[in-house]
Amino acid sequence: MNIFLTGSSGFLGGEILINLSKRKEIDKIFCLIRAKSEEESVIRLHKIFAFHNDYFDAKKVIPVYGNLTDPLLAKNLAENKELQDINLIVHSAANTSFSPIYNDMVENVNINGLRNLLEWAKTLKHLQTFTYVGTATICGEGITNRVVYEDESPDLNSKHFVKYTYTKMLGELMLHEYLPEDKILVVRPSIIMGDTRPWLPRSYVILWALATANLMRLVPVDSDSKLDIVPVDYTANGITELLFAKRHYSVYHISAGVKSSTTPKEVSAAFETSFKDRPPFQFINIEMISQMKKWAKGILKPDSHLNKYTDYLEYWNKIFEDKGALRILFAGLEPYMKFINLGQIFDNSRLLEDTNVGPSESSSEYIKRSITYLENIDVFEGAIDP
Ligand SMILES: NC(=O)c1ccc[n+]([C@@H]2O[C@H](COP(=O)([O-])OP(=O)(O)OC[C@H]3O[C@@H](n4cnc5c(N)ncnc54)[C@H](OP(=O)(O)O)[C@@H]3O)[C@@H](O)[C@H]2O)c1
Repeated sequence: MNIFLTGSSGFLGGEILINLSKRKEIDKIFCLIRAKSEEESVIRLHKIFAFHNDYFDAKKVIPVYGNLTDPLLAKNLAENKELQDINLIVHSAANTSFSPIYNDMVENVNINGLRNLLEWAKTLKHLQTFTYVGTATICGEGITNRVVYEDESPDLNSKHFVKYTYTKMLGELMLHEYLPEDKILVVRPSIIMGDTRPWLPRSYVILWALATANLMRLVPVDSDSKLDIVPVDYTANGITELLFAKRHYSVYHISAGVKSSTTPKEVSAAFETSFKDRPPFQFINIEMISQMKKWAKGILKPDSHLNKYTDYLEYWNKIFEDKGALRILFAGLEPYMKFINLGQIFDNSRLLEDTNVGPSESSSEYIKRSITYLENIDVFEGAIDP
């Protein structure tokens, strides 16, 4: 069996690649890698295995250099004779930015890039399955404080906080324009944060939001809102297992579900006392974020409710010398707070029924093993380039 994988240099795709490289059923894994040359794509691929401290088998794992948004992508892939026998495509690449400044890029990669890939995929004679890594958050902002089921999405009437989730929803719909039903597998992770293993100091977006909240300590979010978070290693295992499982569905959440979901209060309690120089966590209404932005601009009115939190404002004055950077931080954090406040839990019964991965560990438990890494995250860097 031959696989074509996109996004292998990313947070989740790298884990999927390592998992796939160990599967005996697979002969070759071709990885689409952005690079200026073939040499550079080989180096990037080597780095993924080196990062995971894993064995790189150059006969099994083969880079294909290219960019999803290249209008010639489908033509170039079709001309590559090595790719004619691809049986399985796993499309994990995406632009996952929440920031509106990247909206055009998000659209280009997640829509045009997917279209380019599908143009090629539909021509493959031996293709069994096209696996689209979607996101459970395509259900939009209309569903709050309850369990969400796979069948509820995609819904074109759903409203979205960010372009990213909207484009991921359109992407799911687009699959059906190009491929027959029986060739489509959609896997929808919920929120992927960190790792259950203590050895990977990676600070991808959600961990950035957590590190930022951990620094601020006065957090504008509902402390009891249900949070569906899964670790990256569990997510990659779930996806890999599904590729080879006897599947009863074409869409699966890869999520914490009811049993392993958590809350901001529980997550913060997991590491609150590890940072003794910081004030205790205090959660306030999400509406207060506008007051926080005003405070950072120096235009907060004296009668603002935020002024009640004197200890925190003094603490911010001490740690955030550059208030401009602080405003960027608040702006970056806002969409995450909005997502958390939705209180969405994604049902995981399908995944548990069709695979042996079992339920994920709760993030308020496994995060304890990554505490030391939270300190190493440059929150300002993450806010500027989310
Ligand atoms: N992270 C989460 O919380 C989460 C939750 C639910 C679903 N997902 C989904 O999971 C998938 C992987 O997300 P992630 O967190 O691993 O993202 P990531 O770390 O940002 O990785 C994105 C990957 O896509 C590649 N890519 C981006 N633009 C490309 C282009 N124009 N051409 C070729 N490759 C391109 C990147 O390559 P470079 O290395 O060259 O940039 C990278 O390998 C995405 O489909 C995302 O929607 C993620």
